[in-house]
Amino acid sequence: MSVMTDEKIKCELDGALVHSIELHLRKNHPAVSLDDYRKQFPTAPLLSEKAKELVRQAQAKKAAGAAGSKPLTDFERKPLFEVFGLPKNAANNSRGAPIEVSVMVDLDDNQLALVPDIDPAYVFNIELVKTAIIALELNEPMYLWGYHGTGKTTILEQTCARTKRPFLRVQHTANTEESHIIGQYVVRSRPAEVEKLDAHGVKHTLIENQTVTEFQLGPLPQAMIEGLVYCADEYDFAMPNVTSVYQPVLEGKPLVIKDAPPEFRIIRPHPNFRFVATGNTNGVGDETGLYQGTNIQNAANYSRFGIVEEVEYMAPVIEAAIVSAQAGIPKGEAEKLVEFANKARDEFKAGKIGSVPSTRELIKVAKNALVRGGNYRIGLRQGFLNRLSRSDKGALDQVAQRMFG
Ligand SMILES: Nc1ncnc2c1ncn2[C@@H]1O[C@H](COP(=O)(O)OP(=O)(O)OP(=O)(O)O)[C@@H](O)[C@H]1O
Ligand SMILES: [Mg+2]
Repeated sequence: MSVMTDEKIKCELDGALVHSIELHLRKNHPAVSLDDYRKQFPTAPLLSEKAKELVRQAQAKKAAGAAGSKPLTDFERKPLFEVFGLPKNAANNSRGAPIEVSVMVDLDDNQLALVPDIDPAYVFNIELVKTAIIALELNEPMYLWGYHGTGKTTILEQTCARTKRPFLRVQHTANTEESHIIGQYVVRSRPAEVEKLDAHGVKHTLIENQTVTEFQLGPLPQAMIEGLVYCADEYDFAMPNVTSVYQPVLEGKPLVIKDAPPEFRIIRPHPNFRFVATGNTNGVGDETGLYQGTNIQNAANYSRFGIVEEVEYMAPVIEAAIVSAQAGIPKGEAEKLVEFANKARDEFKAGKIGSVPSTRELIKVAKNALVRGGNYRIGLRQGFLNRLSRSDKGALDQVAQRMFG
């Protein structure tokens, strides 16, 4: 524990006893800048012990994101249909009035840089948007899972883009460690003032590069302090002993980083902090054989997600609208591609083939076909079929031949 003394320091210009030279100069010697003072009196102190302690406490409070450090009123309520560019009656409550959502306002430049860009070609699945909005409004951790390329990550990104919430996406892999999430000590080289005596015994202040060890906060405490939406992407790729670090945070409690310096040891969630996650499985293991590298997760960890939703392939008409809008192909052709995809998905479900095409792949197939003068068979081969086993490829190529000639 530090001991705070009340002892003041002396201003070398007028002998006044003060706690902060900077404040004293501003009030009593406005013509002298802090830099001028430093140059003129290189060895004179600039802050009293008490002032240093107060500065340290203020920094610690900021780092701990003390609830209310940013007012809770930094958002405005707007109709959901307007924010998401949907038809007027697309999202009404049970009384027939438009559902309202919170849209962040007064963001600073750093926060704005983290708000995802709006994708004008994005097609919102209204039910999924409502689920995402409920999770964000109620501050309930949400986990979206399902087949690859069904739009789990992008629905979160686009919901944040529309509601202007700063978004931090963190990928998980088998190599993700606790320190990648909460932070760690790093060694840095940075300029620092050092005092040296010359041959005549006169003291000089020089700027030299010094190696310092300091604690660098990881993305989770950063999001908690700054009030970001933390997206734990590919959550089920991480090892369960690593994801256990999230448990208190999923309960809305502070994060305790036991090895960090005192100012970073307890990180409290900012009122705007939110936790969302995605995965290809729901934590009980891969039931499809498609998702090598996912791990069976700890059920107690998953039980802390208040909202869990399976994101399935979209209705054909919506999926075709997406493929058409994202790749710039005519609707009719996109519908045919989706019909092909659904045939392949049925074959997969019946255990006849070993892989499925996702919306992401269909968009790539359509783009490939477009640059090949509308040749969907080449597009399909390059964007999907060439990744399949020879027998699966042969079977689906025949379907493609019948549909696309
Ligand atoms: N509703 C949508 N409107 C427009 N494009 C979409 C939509 N859903 C998905 N996409 C497109 O499909 C692609 C895949 O989406 P996304 O990356 O969100 O899938 P995912 O479910 O997170 O996949 P993975 O499990 O592989 O991480 C995106 O690049 C996006 O262009
Ligand atoms: Mg994803």
